[in-house]
Amino acid sequence: MICLQDCFTGVSKNATFMVANLRAAFCRYLTVTILVLGVVATTSVKSNTVVVENAAVSSRSMLASEAGVEAMRNGGNAVDAAVSTAFTLAVTYPSAGNLGGGGFAVIRMPDGKVFTNDHRERAPKNATRDMFLDEAGEYVAERALRSHLASGVPGSVAGLLAIHERFGVLSRESVVAPAIELAREGFELPADIARQFSSRHEWFQHIDSTRKVFYKEDGSFYQAGELFKQPDLAATLSRVSEQGRDGFYKGETADLIEAEMSRGGGLISKSDLEAYESVWREPIHGRYRGYDIHSMPPPSSGGVLVVQLLNMLEPFELGELGFHTAPSMHLMIEAERRAYADRALHLGDPDFYPVPLDTLLSKRYARSRIENIGATATTSDDVDAGSIPKEPFETTHFSVIDADGMAVAFTTTINGGYGSGIIVEGAGFLLNNEMDDFSAKPGTPNMFGLIGGEANAIEPGKRMLSSMTPTIVSKGNRFILITGSPGGSTIITTTLQVILNVIDHGFELEEAVNAPRFHHQWRPNSVRFEAGIEQDVIDELSAMGHTDLNRLPERFAIGDANSILKFRGSITTTSDGRNEGGAVGF
Ligand code: DON
Repeated sequence: MICLQDCFTGVSKNATFMVANLRAAFCRYLTVTILVLGVVATTSVKSNTVVVENAAVSSRSMLASEAGVEAMRNGGNAVDAAVSTAFTLAVTYPSAGNLGGGGFAVIRMPDGKVFTNDHRERAPKNATRDMFLDEAGEYVAERALRSHLASGVPGSVAGLLAIHERFGVLSRESVVAPAIELAREGFELPADIARQFSSRHEWFQHIDSTRKVFYKEDGSFYQAGELFKQPDLAATLSRVSEQGRDGFYKGETADLIEAEMSRGGGLISKSDLEAYESVWREPIHGRYRGYDIHSMPPPSSGGVLVVQLLNMLEPFELGELGFHTAPSMHLMIEAERRAYADRALHLGDPDFYPVPLDTLLSKRYARSRIENIGATATTSDDVDAGSIPKEPFETTHFSVIDADGMAVAFTTTINGGYGSGIIVEGAGFLLNNEMDDFSAKPGTPNMFGLIGGEANAIEPGKRMLSSMTPTIVSKGNRFILITGSPGGSTIITTTLQVILNVIDHGFELEEAVNAPRFHHQWRPNSVRFEAGIEQDVIDELSAMGHTDLNRLPERFAIGDANSILKFRGSITTTSDGRNEGGAVGF
């Protein structure tokens, strides 16, 4: 049923859905033109979608993608490129790129071995189970999201350095250098980032250390195109470059973090910082229609859920049912209802809670879960009020591949856009508000409407459950799809849809990524649709018994899946058309 031979003919199986703006059309024209001219192997081209022969990066920031590609041009491998891209994102995409947060990397070697690095934040040792509840036992969102208590112990620097030390071939100094230079010398602020700064005025203006960074010296907003410099961040990055992890987890940076915590009543201490280690974990592995799926294990729920969803969907002929038809969407929604219900009960940090991985990942279990899926909708039991995001949340995902086929899927976050909003005074980076990913109170939804229980309760040193889903789908070295997304709870369904669009619907990568998305997560019992999805199909789903069907306004997007597909020696890299970004290769 898979039609890979069609994938690169430029013939879409379903042309009606395309978010085909002029820009995307131009990018495709550019790609085709370059291919016809036969210069792809020697010319570095920039576009939303680029087809190249050797190596590529796709990220949310053109400057960060360029830093990664430059590392590979200089003899580095995909890991050097990923590390350089991640450090650069901390400078050029501050809402999600970070030093003060955490993330996950899935790394596939050319021989097919896969490694994952977990550098998720941990609860400080003085964290307590009820720290986000008031005297009446009610959850206080402000405390979990916008206070010094909101931050877990940052893991990004430890993870990036561990990944680099294990697999990188370039020096640490050279992979951090582009980030230092961009922070020290500045870069022209893109219009979308300038808009982000000014739209957060109400929030940032009250935080002295943050105001100093995101406003000009005279207190006015940076305008698009103005030079944006971050000298304190450059100094922190230089300490990391010179001293490795001690440049962040000890000495001056650690002093600055501890001072920030005592000023604001936070919990992270120098001993928390010193004790932080990233963890190498066994990847989640599944098989779907003959393809290998490798993704992130707990404390992310992403890999487990994607494999569970694919297992539940495999018995159905989704390709034949058709793309964005009510019957195929009905099956996906029903599978999602079951998988997210399992997430709430069974998933948490495996170092603290016995996650029943073998069962959750087995095809047999998946079959038992789909037994009661029929022609009409089941219900999620409880219809809690939906929480539809009012402004985009920001995490960021990027994908890298090098000339040997080494591939990296990397998702990183400070949780909400700009994390807790608090910049460490003198160190120039934002702190995360990842503590909100714990279930602060069983049954009470977090900022993504996700609920949880014992498995994800706050405990000192524990990692909060994540939805981040950096994923690599492969069939030997003939086919390598690298994907993932931001979007909180929607990360998992976004990643699923990119995979299904390529494998079941035979779409080209750009179409697979740009196609409108929809999302269901068990509770609330509702489905969200991007504006591009036809109302007729939504009406059909309603007739099948699905309830609370919300078509999002045009400007609300689900996910940002910066992806790469290598197929038969040709590499397509595409940055999600919903946002600015950089797909670069050579
Ligand atoms: O780890 C998680 O699942 C969340 N902290 C991710 C947050 C997120 O994706 C926000 N942005 N889009």
